[in-house]
Amino acid sequence: MQQSIRIAPSILAADFAKLGAEVRAVSEAGADYIHIDVMDGHYVPNLTIGPAVVVALRPHSPLTFDVHLMIAPADPFIAAFAKAGADIITVHPESGPHLHRSLQEIKSLGKKAGVALNPATPIDVLDHVWEGIDLVTVMSVNPGFGGQSFIPGALPKIAALRARIDASGRQIDLEVDGGVNNETAPQVIAAGADVLVAGSATFSGGPEAYARNIRTLRGAAAGA
Ligand code: DX5
Ligand code: ZN
Repeated sequence: MQQSIRIAPSILAADFAKLGAEVRAVSEAGADYIHIDVMDGHYVPNLTIGPAVVVALRPHSPLTFDVHLMIAPADPFIAAFAKAGADIITVHPESGPHLHRSLQEIKSLGKKAGVALNPATPIDVLDHVWEGIDLVTVMSVNPGFGGQSFIPGALPKIAALRARIDASGRQIDLEVDGGVNNETAPQVIAAGADVLVAGSATFSGGPEAYARNIRTLRGAAAGA
C-alpha cells in the first residue's frame, strides 16, 4: 500500500563547506529522511562522501539517514556505513557484486535494506529478493550527479513496482531519485511512489528557502 509521502533531501546539493548546518537546517525545515549519496568515481563518474562524513553528520539530525551507495564493490563498506549511523542502506544490483549477499549483510547489521534500479535496470532483478527488501529506489536519472532532468520512462516502472509491492503484502518504501521537482513530483506520486529524493528542489535558494521548498514540494506531491 502506498504510504504517506516522505521527502528526502539529497545533501549532494547542499553546501559541503557546512554540511552539519545544512543537515540541521533541512531537518528543522520539515524533511523526513536525509538522503546521502555515496559515490566512488568507479561505479559512477563522481566522488562524494565516505563513512567518516556520515559519522560527523549523525549528531546533527534525528531523522532517518537514507544512505545510497553508488560504489562497487559495495559489500566491503556496508558495515562501516552501518556503524557510522545509516538507517537505510541502499545498493545497486550491479555493484554488490552479489545482491542477495549485500541485502543479507545489511539486514544482519540491523539496518533497513534498499535496492536502487538504474534507468536501464529491469525490475525483475528483484524477483528473488523481495523478502529482504525495505525500500526500492527508482533512479529517474543516471546515477552520478544532482541537477539532471527527470527521465519519463521512470513512470511506468514506478507503476509496475507499486503493483509488485502491493502484491507482496509487505511494507516497502517506493522511492524516486533524480530530477524530482514541483512538476515531476505529482507524476511520480500518481504512479505510486511514496518517498521523494529531492536535491536541487530542496536546497535551491539557501537555508531561508528550505522550509518553503519542502512545503511546496509536499503540496505539489499531495495534489497528485
Ligand atoms: C544521483 C543521486 C541523486 C541526486 C538527486 O546519482 O543519487 O540523489 O543527488 O539530485 P536532484 O534532486 O538534484 O536530481
Ligand atoms: Zn541518491
